[in-house]
Amino acid sequence: MLEDIKEVLFSKEQLEECAKRLGEDISRDYEGKNPLLIGVLKGSVVFMTDLMRAISIPCEIDFMAVSSYGCSDRSSGAVKFLKDLDTDIAGRDLIIVEDILDTGLTLTHLTKVLSARNAASIKLCVLLDKEERREVNVPVAYRGFFVKNEFVVGYGLDYAGKYRNLPYIGVLKREIYENSAKE
Ligand code: IMP
Ligand code: MG
Repeated sequence: MLEDIKEVLFSKEQLEECAKRLGEDISRDYEGKNPLLIGVLKGSVVFMTDLMRAISIPCEIDFMAVSSYGCSDRSSGAVKFLKDLDTDIAGRDLIIVEDILDTGLTLTHLTKVLSARNAASIKLCVLLDKEERREVNVPVAYRGFFVKNEFVVGYGLDYAGKYRNLPYIGVLKREIYENSAKE
């Protein structure tokens, strides 16, 4: 798998350190509360497990799945719900946890849907922010790192379902997704 990676951007240690910093920020900001962390499947799972262990106040987790890139490297803009929450979120303080913020269409849609269910508050926590690609303005409360406009994989992030298990985040070689687009 390593031969498919052009460059490692963030090591396992840097990612753990980042989750620790964000977890501490959340613990401070939500002192006395019981926030519900909502992970967007599947990309956020690795980040979520590091983040939740870095939170020192009571909190709960839930997950939802929306359709995303499929096998292509570009956002279709269409967001479809594939799995809903198990939790009643009325009156809850929500923190939506995402692997990467790209165009912002997914999180804008999610925020709209969840706020209609009368959550007390909704904030966003994203590990990576590809700011250059933004199409709609999205307020980010907790951000790990900014990244350039390159396709990245690992630590939960995939290309066509692969590479999520890499312990680091790296840039995928262009020929990997260009070749498969021609197949
Ligand atoms: P958007 O912000 O609605 O465009 O979509 C964000 C979603 O696109 C993320 O949750 C990822 O699933 C996916 N995505 C965007 N950029 C990348 C990338 O570089 N690597 C892997 N997935 C990506
Ligand atoms: Mg995702």
